[in-house]
Amino acid sequence: MVATVVIGAQWGDEGKGKVVDLLGKDHPTVVRFHGGNNAGHTLVVNGKKHVLHLLPSGIIRSGTTNIVGPGVVCDLPVLVAELQIAAEHNSSMYLDEHAAVILPHHIQIDQLREQRAGKVGTTGRGIGPCYEDTVARRGVKLRDLKNEERLRKTLTRGDYYGERCALVRHLGDSFIPLHDLVGWCLSFQEKIVPYLADTRALIAEKMTAGETILFEGAQGVLLDVMQGALPYVTSSICTVAGVSSTFGLYAFERVIGVAKAYLTRVGEGPFPTELSPDASERLRTAGGEYGATTGRPRRCGWLDLVALRYAIRMGGITELFLTKLDVLSGYGMIPVCTQYMQGGTSLSTETTLTCPILEQITPRYAELPGWSEDITNCRVEADLPKNAREYIAFIEKETQTPITALSVGPERSQIIFRT
Ligand code: IMP
Repeated sequence: MVATVVIGAQWGDEGKGKVVDLLGKDHPTVVRFHGGNNAGHTLVVNGKKHVLHLLPSGIIRSGTTNIVGPGVVCDLPVLVAELQIAAEHNSSMYLDEHAAVILPHHIQIDQLREQRAGKVGTTGRGIGPCYEDTVARRGVKLRDLKNEERLRKTLTRGDYYGERCALVRHLGDSFIPLHDLVGWCLSFQEKIVPYLADTRALIAEKMTAGETILFEGAQGVLLDVMQGALPYVTSSICTVAGVSSTFGLYAFERVIGVAKAYLTRVGEGPFPTELSPDASERLRTAGGEYGATTGRPRRCGWLDLVALRYAIRMGGITELFLTKLDVLSGYGMIPVCTQYMQGGTSLSTETTLTCPILEQITPRYAELPGWSEDITNCRVEADLPKNAREYIAFIEKETQTPITALSVGPERSQIIFRT
């Protein structure tokens, strides 16, 4: 039984959607296993841009089977809109009955908390409050949309509705009446219930029949709720453990970590290799670094190999896909962080990258020679300028992890395979 997993090896936005779309050619089934519509996967196919937030990137490839697993949190209007896109592309869809529903008050709570001191810079999509309910063994699941009585029971069990009302009021807003909340949920019934399934059983059957399933991650290891630098993280498991915990799978053929050739971050939190606003702007413009979900300008910086090594170790990554190498064209010299210095000594590679650590260290850089050529038309590694090839080799050597593919532009055709 084998599976391929694609996860982000940085702070998200590494270009995972493109990688999943490409691997979809050899994987008939693609599964989204965590997160919600905080993600934004941008795909360019035949010059047409698609931005997906919730459904697997496989839906753009006609004939694939796409699955939303039990660890995903679902915004119902977004779900319905993307189911429509899947139907237009002739892709079949299954939604796990146990996937959680993001209710209007989750979004209210998320946004109201962000207006207070100590904000995390969330996407404001209700992700954290929805996962809080899941861990607290409450909240609405997709299966509750099947009938009104069941839905009401879930909303009122253990005074769930009353408690959430009190919290929203405490944060300074008013709450949607129970009757309206029930009606709102049921308004999606017809469009969603036909897709509900026991996806764990479905995947087990496919694997027993010999199929290799492709699992698509969202966000990245540095935003993982357990391995990331709290509190500036998302609320789900972004490592390969997210597949294990939701599907009971523990052996993987490939765990592909997707990393940009430089680094970006959205939201608050430490970012050791962050550039000054002016220098950041050059990378942001060249790389189109604006959030696909919120449109926020992304913070930009140089590649951080200490953070990447940590993500490889904590994420269970066995190989890397390096994206957006073309964006670095035109730099005479490219700094790459190879060490964190703390009080005059190099930080041990085993150190957990917590917030206090990331805030204390000073990055130390190697300076690699850049290249001036436009590389967007390169299709094999030998076409790349020597310094670009050496940049890739340096990352491989420093991370002790093979880079099996790289991208030089957003199109399917702009991926160079190295194996
Ligand atoms: P949340 O996931 O909306 O709760 O946001 C928590 C943190 O994760 C914030 O810093 C967000 O900017 C970040 N985040 C969530 N999803 C993504 C993503 O898909 N790409 C990059 N950052 C993300």
